[in-house]
Amino acid sequence: MIRKATIKDIAKASGVSTTAVSLVLNNRPNRVSEDVKSLIIENVSKMNYSPNTYARSLVTKSSKTIGLIIPDIENAFFSAMSKAVGEYARQKGYLVILLNSNDEHAQTLDSIKLLYQRNIDGIMIVVDKESYYDRYQEEIKKVLGGIGIPFVLLDRFIEDFDSNMVYFDNELGGYLATKRLLDNGHKKIACISGPSKIPGSYARLCGYKRAMTEAHLEINEELIKEGDYRLLSGIQSMKELEGQDFTAIFACNDLMAFGAIEYLHSIGKSVPKDYSIVGYDNYTVFTKMENSLDSIDQNSNTLGQQGCSLLLDLISGKENNIKKIKLIPQLVIKNSVKKIH
Ligand code: RIB
Repeated sequence: MIRKATIKDIAKASGVSTTAVSLVLNNRPNRVSEDVKSLIIENVSKMNYSPNTYARSLVTKSSKTIGLIIPDIENAFFSAMSKAVGEYARQKGYLVILLNSNDEHAQTLDSIKLLYQRNIDGIMIVVDKESYYDRYQEEIKKVLGGIGIPFVLLDRFIEDFDSNMVYFDNELGGYLATKRLLDNGHKKIACISGPSKIPGSYARLCGYKRAMTEAHLEINEELIKEGDYRLLSGIQSMKELEGQDFTAIFACNDLMAFGAIEYLHSIGKSVPKDYSIVGYDNYTVFTKMENSLDSIDQNSNTLGQQGCSLLLDLISGKENNIKKIKLIPQLVIKNSVKKIH
């Protein structure tokens, strides 16, 4: 059975991006030359291309609606980012449909389908953690590869998958957090990482290891625990670390840092008196805890605005090429780190 041509095949045969093919086939404003347009149309018929099951019927008018799929709406990082997307989109005359995948692969796929049925012009996606597991990774690549309309990956990208993306330099963030602790005399530093399958989580852990190695310190794998970016995994990881020899913790997001602090309080320990800790996300929601936690700021406003701006440029045809925008995180010093000698 001959494999059905996908939009990717048409793009490759025509020497343009899938976004360009989709704009031409949907009669959207674009900067594709007439010759290339004819080549695309010729390839579509020659290669017997028809939009895949996820693609919508060919529509000629814009719905001025875009989709945003996030993995955890209860996580202030994503809700703040969603707010920035909504505000930016509204200024440009677009409506945003926000869907929460609850970090589940099936819910991400369903969300894409639901958004298609509502004839959206483009999608921004923060990939759920389940979609990074082998059996799902190929499926999410296939669905996105044949999506037929512009999309931008926010915050989390997929390796070996050429797509538009806006994300932060996670390795640098992990390095800065760990350096904050090293520069205050800590040598035995535990790390509570995010789901290792997510490239950004793995990069933060690499940043931690780079800082430790640069300081000529052994990496003690016993002091590295894998969390899932939720509060309970911070509590659980801290429980597993109890009794080990360390003076500081780098938690790869603030929710897990809050969980670790909660567990330390439950055993009569305090931060930074007994243990120093640095988080990641620089939450601006938990007034009490947030005022005390040193953290890595990855400005969710900037992420949301830049992601939405790129998507709208792809929809309008102002941008035809694949763009990968890497943003720089910042260390924010508060008072959860104690200097030790
Ligand atoms: O807090 C959730 C984490 O997952 C954030 O650090 C963000 O980068 C997301 O990927």
